[in-house]
Amino acid sequence: MPTVLIIYYSKTGNTEEMAKAVEEGVKSEGLRAICKKVTRVTPKDLLGVEGIIIGSPTYYGTMAAEMKAFLDRSVRYHGKLEGKVGAAFASGGVLGGGVETTALDMTKALLIHGMVVQGDPWGSHYGTVSVGKSSPSARRECKKLGERVARLIKRLGPTF
Ligand SMILES: Cc1cc2nc3c(=O)[nH]c(=O)nc-3n(C[C@H](O)[C@H](O)[C@H](O)COP(=O)(O)O)c2cc1C
Repeated sequence: MPTVLIIYYSKTGNTEEMAKAVEEGVKSEGLRAICKKVTRVTPKDLLGVEGIIIGSPTYYGTMAAEMKAFLDRSVRYHGKLEGKVGAAFASGGVLGGGVETTALDMTKALLIHGMVVQGDPWGSHYGTVSVGKSSPSARRECKKLGERVARLIKRLGPTF
């Protein structure tokens, strides 16, 4: 069964809550989902999955250092993630505080790895974002993100 790895960093729980909703979305499409805090993942874990979804709080307008350090370590597998499906989500403290650019910054890393990232013409265009404790509608958007990634994996078929 295709697997999606959801990797997040969270200190006060907001991003973790989003990650759980993303996981729910992946599972609702019949795919396997593994949801782990970035400190419990090694770059090698990226190899055996078809989808990778990453989430972080916004810290000074970009992702948390823990997520950036993990992405930097993933250079070890540069070129090996090509064709996998990816997506990003981010939590912020205030509207306009950089939550969208945080999602975009993480998306850039996925693109640099050669991954396939689907935009969203109706919801959060660049990846799902939320401010503060996630609202029911933000969690619905997160679930939708998981569903969309899972559906795209099914449409693309095996990537490795
Ligand atoms: C060091 C630090 C820097 C932050 N910088 C920003 C920021 O630039 N913009 C913003 O909107 N929120 C900022 N925040 C708020 C967090 O992004 C927000 O509280 C987020 O929901 C925390 O996610 P978590 O509960 O998963 O840890 C910052 C918080 C901390 C601790």
